[in-house]
Amino acid sequence: MTTNITPAEHLAAVQATFSGAGDPRLADVMRSLVAHLHAFVVDVGLTRDEWFAGIDFLTRVGHMCDGQRQEFILLSDTLGVSMLVEMLAQGGVPGTTEPTVFGPFHVEGAPERALGASIVEPGGDLPGEPLTVAGTVRSLDGTPLGGARLDVWQTAPNGLYDVQDERQPAMNLRGVFTAAADGGYHFRTLRPVAYPIPGDGPVGEMLRATGRHNWRPAHIHFVVSAPGHKPVITHVFDRASAYLDSDAVFGVRDSLVVGMDGGTARFDPVLEPVA
Ligand code: BEZ
Ligand code: FE
Repeated sequence: MTTNITPAEHLAAVQATFSGAGDPRLADVMRSLVAHLHAFVVDVGLTRDEWFAGIDFLTRVGHMCDGQRQEFILLSDTLGVSMLVEMLAQGGVPGTTEPTVFGPFHVEGAPERALGASIVEPGGDLPGEPLTVAGTVRSLDGTPLGGARLDVWQTAPNGLYDVQDERQPAMNLRGVFTAAADGGYHFRTLRPVAYPIPGDGPVGEMLRATGRHNWRPAHIHFVVSAPGHKPVITHVFDRASAYLDSDAVFGVRDSLVVGMDGGTARFDPVLEPVA
């Protein structure tokens, strides 16, 4: 029977339908998901018009997605969900490098470059400040991790990644480096700049409607990995950048903010060993 039931009884009826799921984890996730969705609807007293506006918004988010553009990830990023998933998946061990969001602009197969090389491709040298980034990759106990892999990517000084900008050569400002036997690495680049995440879709509308901006502070992306260790997905941020206190995707951590004045930046990744 479904007459005269309370919202709590209604929720229990929906949750009970998941007990036949073959995968117990799926059943748990679905029960929790509907519990939080129902609680949200009750909490705000969602009207029928608001419910429909939400459906319309999510429909438009879906229509904005294609092979190049992932508006759902952008929505997750701007609601702080992507960062929360990374916090749970990676970090948490004191002394290891803090993780941050991966973002949509990583490209597989970036060129392997020699230590000390520039990540600027021929023809990709837009006017900007030269910067050398250097450091040592270590394990949590301080042991240098010779042979560690560092996959790095960033925007050009015009605030665009190569994949967003026809004027830049492919693989501009991307590279994969292998740390020396003492864990040391260094590479040359151009100082990163603050840049706006895409604001021309429904996520941009949501940001404007809620009085938010769509800027990220200047950063360089890193994925650092080494055998026997948990890889870390992270960034280094420029201490002099705007938006460090209001990153549109909530990715800034104090430990990841470094000085980039004077043409040099230091970043010493620390990885967590896996048993
Ligand atoms: C990025 O840093 O590349 C990024 C992260 C989240 C959303 C958009 C861009
Ligand atoms: Fe970025």
